Amino acid sequence: MKKHNLFYMAIVGACMLLLFGYNDQTIRVHSPNMVSVAHRGASSFAPENTRSAFQKAVELRADYLECDVHLSKDGELVIMHDEKIDRTTNGSGYIKDYTLAELKEFDAGGSFGDAFRGESIITLNELLEEFYGQIGLLIELKNPQLYTGIEEKIVALLKEYNDFSSIIIQSFDAESMRKIHTLLPEIEVGILIRPSESIVSAKRLDDLTSFASYINFNVSFVNKKMVKNVHKRGGKVFVWSKKDKMLVSKAHKFGVDGIISDFSTWPTNEPIYLVQE
Ligand code: G3P
Ligand code: CA
Repeated sequence: MKKHNLFYMAIVGACMLLLFGYNDQTIRVHSPNMVSVAHRGASSFAPENTRSAFQKAVELRADYLECDVHLSKDGELVIMHDEKIDRTTNGSGYIKDYTLAELKEFDAGGSFGDAFRGESIITLNELLEEFYGQIGLLIELKNPQLYTGIEEKIVALLKEYNDFSSIIIQSFDAESMRKIHTLLPEIEVGILIRPSESIVSAKRLDDLTSFASYINFNVSFVNKKMVKNVHKRGGKVFVWSKKDKMLVSKAHKFGVDGIISDFSTWPTNEPIYLVQE
């Protein structure tokens, strides 16, 4: 083989090693003062909101997993992001129109990849049984106004556990979180701020932080001043994003308390935030 061919092969080999080595090492968004939350589980690696994604979050040593909760037709607390099962399963229709037994028949993994085919939807009860104590739980109530009594059901379920220090309940629906706080003041609640409402007035912040421990923003709709305003009132801020590749650096710039991310292996300019096991 010619000398220059050997040279090029060596360069390509070194690049591949670097690339795959880098990916293997990119296993945790990490910063000593910042909580890491696996959004819908480690949803870059496994189908969102499934047992596999949550197991992966534990494996990647996230501090918390994040999940979304709805109610089935027979009143079971089920984990899924959308109100409809169409996007993430092989079925179609609203969660509220199916019983849990019917929902369990759908495949919630196949659309992500063949390796996950056959994975079924899980309930909040199953999630707690498997993951409580292994990782923090950030539980989002999705559109709770659609599900009468969902707050009471969540509280009744959580009361089976003694220590709530690793659990946070959050929602875009502030009144639902106020209700959770009234029913179970020992558990921390968070308010998710919609991008369209991200300029939060001092009066509203006073009110929200009177019962919520967290005020959480999409990273593209918050700034240092807003974070400071929450901190001044004794609250904490988590930021999330599915798309913003500057999530980590913005989070640090704004001085937030936690990052909710898919744990993707984004190329990043900030290897300081990625730790090698
Ligand atoms: O935890 C924040 C984030 O989950 C809110 O957005 O749409 O992913 O539930 P979404
Ligand atoms: Ca969510």
